Amino acid sequence: MNKDQLRTCELCDLNVEFDERPSMPALENVTEAEQRAGLHLAAIHRMHLRDMQRLVHVLEQVEQGAVSPEVFAQEVSNVELTHNMHMFGTMCGRECQVLTFHHDAEEHMIFPQLEQQNIQALSRVVARLKQEHLIVHELITRLETAAHALAQNQDEHNFARTKATFVQLQTAVISHFGYEETELREALGRFVPVM
Ligand SMILES: [Fe+2]
Ligand SMILES: [Fe+2]
Repeated sequence: MNKDQLRTCELCDLNVEFDERPSMPALENVTEAEQRAGLHLAAIHRMHLRDMQRLVHVLEQVEQGAVSPEVFAQEVSNVELTHNMHMFGTMCGRECQVLTFHHDAEEHMIFPQLEQQNIQALSRVVARLKQEHLIVHELITRLETAAHALAQNQDEHNFARTKATFVQLQTAVISHFGYEETELREALGRFVPVM
């Protein structure tokens, strides 16, 4: 699907696990140093996933505040709820920037070096990863819009839209990261050891 088609897609259809994902066969004689270098991407991914997990906690706080206002005096609850919703919006916006930067770095600095190797299986994996980036990017764009609206105005509609988009993005990112770091590990260790 191209960018225009993605733009009109239902949120639930924006998913990176479509068709069969190509895979990269093992490289021969991978050294220990290459193996170690190949793990850098997974370490970077873990950091992003931790950030997103932090957002899940804020999300839970908002929902707790929303479903059990009797826990607090009404006013306190409203102030907290508004504050947490605002924080969720702001944090989602920031996460969007960080993820966009990560994917841009891959597309401009890492993928070209892998494509230059002229290994067919590797190029197929990279092509697939680029397709997945388009889907993730569409989700990021939608989350940016929703998060911005929520940071401006903390109402139920804005919250629900931000939450649904965030959840869809998190699912896509977990799947994309897992596929990417597994299939590229050895190739990164050998061809892009410094990243
Ligand atoms: Fe990626
Ligand atoms: Fe990545």
